Amino acid sequence: MMSDPNRLPIYPANQPPEPLKPHHHPPQYYVRRVKEGLATRVSKIVCSIFLSLLLIFGIITFIMWLSLRPHRPRIFIHDFSVPGLSQENGFENAEIAFNVTLRNSNQHIGIFYDAMDGSVFYKDQKIGSRSLFSETHQDPKTTTIVSGAFSGATLTVTSQHWMEFLADRAAGSVTFRLDLASAIRFKVSTWTSRTHRMHASCPVAVGANGSILPSSKDKRCPVYFT
Ligand SMILES: *[C@@H]1O[C@H](CO)[C@@H](O)[C@H](O)[C@H]1NC(C)=O
Ligand SMILES: *[C@@H]1O[C@H](CO)[C@@H](O)[C@H](O)[C@H]1NC(C)=O
Repeated sequence: MMSDPNRLPIYPANQPPEPLKPHHHPPQYYVRRVKEGLATRVSKIVCSIFLSLLLIFGIITFIMWLSLRPHRPRIFIHDFSVPGLSQENGFENAEIAFNVTLRNSNQHIGIFYDAMDGSVFYKDQKIGSRSLFSETHQDPKTTTIVSGAFSGATLTVTSQHWMEFLADRAAGSVTFRLDLASAIRFKVSTWTSRTHRMHASCPVAVGANGSILPSSKDKRCPVYFT
């Protein structure tokens, strides 16, 4: 009788099916399996140690960056006055006096300032300009007072400007802008950063008597790096 390969074998009822033969592998097979298992376990451990170290290193770097991250100087305008503002022909011996402070709020970082220049603007026109100080080093957590005046050669107020001041004054206040510019470097122990060009811009309004208005006093000036 020919057997059809597509048919399931039918066993006679009184004869149980032959049990499946267990797989027999040569001993080398098991040795290899154990070796491979060990290799994956070792590589997993190495991998997790490496990842943990990377994480710890990352956290330490982040903490160091947080504590060493340089804060830009905090610049405040405390005083600004145009003493002759109440006089009709005050422009002939006009003077603009100011007082600003530079605060290094960093814990461990010193700041080197190159020479700092100050300029006064009125309606975006520069009406005065002078050097405020030459190279200066500022220790951490200290404040430097920069006060002075624009007058004579450092102030170029025309009679036209003065008439505009008087018109503004009649309306209640005259608004100026004091700009400070310097190149600065940060210093952490022996490491010194590259030079950043710093620019502070202090809008300031004076009242009819030429003194700074309370709304401008002790205001923080925005600081930009260019
Ligand atoms: C400038 O302002 C600061 C802070 O208000 C003050 O301590 C200092 O005496 C002032 N300096 C001058 C010259 O007005
Ligand atoms: C100038 O006027 C303001 C009010 O507008 C006043 O608070 C301030 O004391 C005056 N300053 C001087 C020096 O007279």
